[in-house]
Amino acid sequence: TANYDQMEVRPRPELFDFHGVGMITDFTENWDNIQNFKARPDDILIATYPKAGTTWVSYILDLLYFAHMGQDRQTSIPLHDRVPFLEICEPPMPKGTDLADKLPTTPRLIKTHLPVQFVPKSFWEQRCRVVYVARNAKDNAVSYFHFERMDSGMPEPGKWSTFLQNFMEGKMVFGSWYDHVNGWCEKKQTYSNFHYMFYEDLIEDCGREIDRLCSFLSLSPSPEEKERVKASVTFDNMKQNKMTNYSTFDSMNQTISPFMRKGKVGDWKNHFTVAQNEQFDEDYKQKMKNPDLKFRYEI
Ligand code: A3P
Repeated sequence: TANYDQMEVRPRPELFDFHGVGMITDFTENWDNIQNFKARPDDILIATYPKAGTTWVSYILDLLYFAHMGQDRQTSIPLHDRVPFLEICEPPMPKGTDLADKLPTTPRLIKTHLPVQFVPKSFWEQRCRVVYVARNAKDNAVSYFHFERMDSGMPEPGKWSTFLQNFMEGKMVFGSWYDHVNGWCEKKQTYSNFHYMFYEDLIEDCGREIDRLCSFLSLSPSPEEKERVKASVTFDNMKQNKMTNYSTFDSMNQTISPFMRKGKVGDWKNHFTVAQNEQFDEDYKQKMKNPDLKFRYEI
């Protein structure tokens, strides 16, 4: 167990404007290596706004490709080492770009939260497959709020009302949620090697979403293999699993809020006041004109 008294106390990082996008230094320090990153044609990029279901989809893909390598890998290598986080640069941990360069397995699964305009151009040049996961704005905001409360590597979120205002104004690490989902959705119009999926759909029918992923990736697991993946990626199993629950991360204080927090659709109803909800909806209508983005608000 971690000894919290001996942990280095890092001050919370400050958010700053980076080419029009909110950032902290952990994600910009390695910028040249990120921009010059050499993607390979069989790489799979898992792109999300933070807290949209990155870990869930990363684990599904990891199992679909590598479950056959046996239990040892599954019980000894944390998911964040199997699926490198491209832009992270948080010494003494290895840089995401280095981790990706050294991955022993193919295809490489690479995670990013970058807005689409910041993605290294080699991913497009190599025609890499891209899986984008989006989650409805309200639940995404709630999940992000609790994450910032517990992760000292992120800016201090402040009170919920302050955080929500900042979320609406796009003053977040990785920028505006609205710009992020819209930017990536626009990319889908011109880049065909792209699978755009929703957290809410995974909750509704994980098996169906695994099928869709398999068809995008031209994978054909046996029914048994598919069932095993499905059973491994339930919220409860991932919460118990030390390789997927981020319990190995020192900067996270999971007694404040666990990484695998609730895993539900609609928890925003326990956070938004009626007035906040009305203001949010009004603002949302202005910013989200894209008919392709159907989120399930009614649930
Ligand atoms: P909550 O905070 O709403 O619980 P990311 O991986 O992008 O950081 O997203 C984390 C969010 O996805 C958290 O949401 C977490 O609980 C949820 N999540 C992760 N694995 C899940 C699973 N197997 N089923 C449902 N939700 C999951």
